[in-house]
Amino acid sequence: MMGRISAAYNWFDERTAIRSLIRKGLYEAVPVRGAWFYTLGSATLVLILLQLITGIFLTLLYVPSVSEAWASLHYLAQHDAFGSIVRGIHLWSAYILLFVIGLHMVRTFFSGSYKRPRELNWVTGVGLFVLVLAMAITGAFLPWDQAAYWTAVVVTNIPVYTPFIGSFLRALWRGADTMGPTTLSRTFGIHVWLIPAILFPLIGAHLALLRKHGEFGSYVNYRGAYRSREGVDVPPAPAQRPIEPPYPAAPTDELWAAPLETEDFYPHQTFKDGVVSAGLVILVFILAVAIGAPLEAIADPSTTSYTPVPEWFFLPLDELLVLVPQQLIPLVLVLPTVGVLLLLALPFIDRDPERNPFERPAVMVPGAFAVLFVVLLTLLGSGRLFNL
Ligand code: HEM
Repeated sequence: MMGRISAAYNWFDERTAIRSLIRKGLYEAVPVRGAWFYTLGSATLVLILLQLITGIFLTLLYVPSVSEAWASLHYLAQHDAFGSIVRGIHLWSAYILLFVIGLHMVRTFFSGSYKRPRELNWVTGVGLFVLVLAMAITGAFLPWDQAAYWTAVVVTNIPVYTPFIGSFLRALWRGADTMGPTTLSRTFGIHVWLIPAILFPLIGAHLALLRKHGEFGSYVNYRGAYRSREGVDVPPAPAQRPIEPPYPAAPTDELWAAPLETEDFYPHQTFKDGVVSAGLVILVFILAVAIGAPLEAIADPSTTSYTPVPEWFFLPLDELLVLVPQQLIPLVLVLPTVGVLLLLALPFIDRDPERNPFERPAVMVPGAFAVLFVVLLTLLGSGRLFNL
């Protein structure tokens, strides 16, 4: 039996070179220290794949029309226990994904992983962050219950504040000046076709760049980390292991480019990646079974008594809109665009090779304030999630 399997594998390998592909994928040098923090990228990947699989299942039942969207999900809730869990997994993995991608971004910011030669790792990452947010926002419209409808009314109105072409952009999204049947079918198209068509190739580019440059990890892995500390001996250049691909071996790169101590991606890093990803998938499953995905009453555009509650990931922006005077609202809505542009520009503004976060106050202090500001606004607005 084993002989037959091995013969079949050899046959397949002769035609596809699968063996060397697997070797190339698994046996690569990664830095040793701080490796649990490097699990956040693969956890993001696993959660996105979970989204893809459960999303495909949901399209088998969901009908993207104003008259049937809610009814199809209501049917699921009433008559299909498996489908309801799939819907719960889709929702909870989206929520946890937003959280984990945020942590991955903070980690790479903190470790200065966006610096030369990894500027494009960061830039593709910012693109992925925006696309993942866009998935969450468009997905929130699809149940077409009261929460979804009123979220859609508020969110599709945001582009109207864009100078010159605001009304055009809003009409483009809604399909007309006001909300209507096209708003739902168009948003569905954006959610299942347009965004994934950009998102998945971009993930491919992000991972290809990661493989090209290798994991930077953290400054603690490099000779440069010891450079500025008085009285600390600079550790010798890696002796037991030669500098390996993908890390460059030029002497000038030694300070920042090649880690002092490396280990194989498999089994060391893959074990840690597996533990964290499996833990998150189990958490998603528990939340999906225990809490599930809510479905409010069917959307009623004529209602006057419904108080819309924003999705939690909208809270920072929503709270800011509540706090500022009316005249400043257009300015607040420009803020996310400015934030994304600043993030995209970061590797090209901060070009100093210093990676130690404690020696980069010009970037770390504004970065820490920005994170604190977002957390504070979320906490301030969180009362509204529970209608307090
Ligand atoms: C779909 C979303 C994303 C996926 C699947 C993904 C995946 C990964 C993986 C697997 C790694 C290697 C392991 C690790 O360092 O954690 C990585 C590294 C990296 N990611 Fe992402 N990532 C995503 C989003 C982002 C975002 C939002 C940013 C920042 C804006 C970002 C910036 C980086 C950088 C700079 C590295 C290199 C880290 C280093 O070498 O130290 N990524 N990513």
